[in-house]
Amino acid sequence: MKHESILILDFGGQYNQLIARRVRESHVYCEVHPDTMPIEKIREMNPRGIILTGGPQSVYVENAVLGDSRIFELGIPILGICYGAQVIAHVLGGKVDKAETSEYGRTEVSIDKKSPLFENVSTKTIAWMSHTDRIFEIPNGFEVTSSTQNCPVASMEDSSRKFYAVQFHPEVMHTDEGKIMLDNFVRKICECRGDWTMSNFIQTTVENLKSRIGSGRALCALSGGVDSSVAAVLMSKAIGKQLTCVFVDHGLLRKNEGDEVEQVFGSSGIYDLNFIRVNAGDEFLQALKNVTEPESKRKIIGEKFIRVFEREAKKIGAVDFLVQGTIYPDVIESGLGRAATIKSHHNVGGLPNYVDFKEIVEPLRLLFKDEVREVGRQLGIPEKLVSRQPFPGPGLGIRIIGEVTAEKISIVQNADAIYREELEKSGVKNLGQYFAALTNMRSVGVMGDGRTYDYAIVLRAVETSDFMTANASQIPWEILGKISNRIVNEVKGVNRVLYDCTSKPPATIELE
Ligand code: XMP
Repeated sequence: MKHESILILDFGGQYNQLIARRVRESHVYCEVHPDTMPIEKIREMNPRGIILTGGPQSVYVENAVLGDSRIFELGIPILGICYGAQVIAHVLGGKVDKAETSEYGRTEVSIDKKSPLFENVSTKTIAWMSHTDRIFEIPNGFEVTSSTQNCPVASMEDSSRKFYAVQFHPEVMHTDEGKIMLDNFVRKICECRGDWTMSNFIQTTVENLKSRIGSGRALCALSGGVDSSVAAVLMSKAIGKQLTCVFVDHGLLRKNEGDEVEQVFGSSGIYDLNFIRVNAGDEFLQALKNVTEPESKRKIIGEKFIRVFEREAKKIGAVDFLVQGTIYPDVIESGLGRAATIKSHHNVGGLPNYVDFKEIVEPLRLLFKDEVREVGRQLGIPEKLVSRQPFPGPGLGIRIIGEVTAEKISIVQNADAIYREELEKSGVKNLGQYFAALTNMRSVGVMGDGRTYDYAIVLRAVETSDFMTANASQIPWEILGKISNRIVNEVKGVNRVLYDCTSKPPATIELE
């Protein structure tokens, strides 16, 4: 079954993923494609409507990116946001120019005309503005529907052709009623039914996987993280024992995590699949001996992971499909190809083509993270696993500064378990990620009557929505005090606990 869909043409705005998120929240399926998407492909996709995103450029400069103007002949509704609104104005014969004053931030918009886009929206509403250009003349057939103090055309529309343009950003949280506007666009104007639900997704994906894989065999690298777990369960639902999951336990997982993964996916678990756990902790430790430089550690762990997985895969023999837990933000990001390498991230779920297989299958490639979690819940994966925080592929290897040893792994695992237990009990909210790490610093302390010369643990907790930027969480002092007490008392080898109060940037979330 093909879902009704909305096409989001991306002009390089920073909020493009958010637009897609909001559309999905209205239970309408959407895809983000670059503004250069060929018109034939757009016709093939046959969307119910198109959204043109914001972007950093000006429409009136030479070689400005304006998309293919034939989209205006498709006879489907189009919504332009910010730069997208200016594209509509410019291409259809209006005039866009630099504004006398740029508008930035939360701004009051007054809705001056009744519009299907603003149904159930207050006549004075707060919206997020971020522009230096604005529409000076609207194209023929359009009328202005809202304005702000500095922007006479905050929105315009041609309701007969169903073209809508808003200068502000309805997709961001700072636009109070933005979600209603986007919902109006996709449900009322584009007349989408809103049949994109996770149970529908599961049903159609399982059917598709069944027919695609037939009697073939598939191999999945299971890390215990959300994405690879959900991908594996979805696959097992479709092809049962034709799927083999290999879980490489590199010994750098959090306390008890390896066993928890085995409990869910192993022979006493709830799923019908072949599960192989490889306990490779010693091998990883050996490879990491005397290595202190963060990038070297990351590379060694990544490389070792591949070798161990490869060895196991060889035992299984040739398979037809290799399962990967790629999710939609990865697809969008890699499609746009912008990424500065601060750290060489390695994702245990993602593997290159060194195993003997014919095709890659990515059952989650259309989903956002919260959708993946929802699918996981509906498939009966335990909540603890489904709501797990991000955990880096190299694991504790990059939460131990300096050389990784068995003793240090045990220290950081125990300290981290106490930290997590106490924070979970404390009810502190909005934590995006939190963990304990082990510094390479030893200092003098006193315990009982004796001198100690032990390690310092550093605690980190951040608030973040995208993990690109983050603020250190202000955990109440009493809670930190209690945690620190427990750690120095219960974890041998630690006599000092520090709290990391740096934001990202300039620090990163992980320590290495
Ligand atoms: P940083 O430390 O770069 O981390 O601020 C941002 C987010 O990415 C996670 N992270 C990783 N995830 N493989 C992963 O799959 C990796 O190698 C890796 N390194 C960092 C980190 O936990 C945080 O959520």
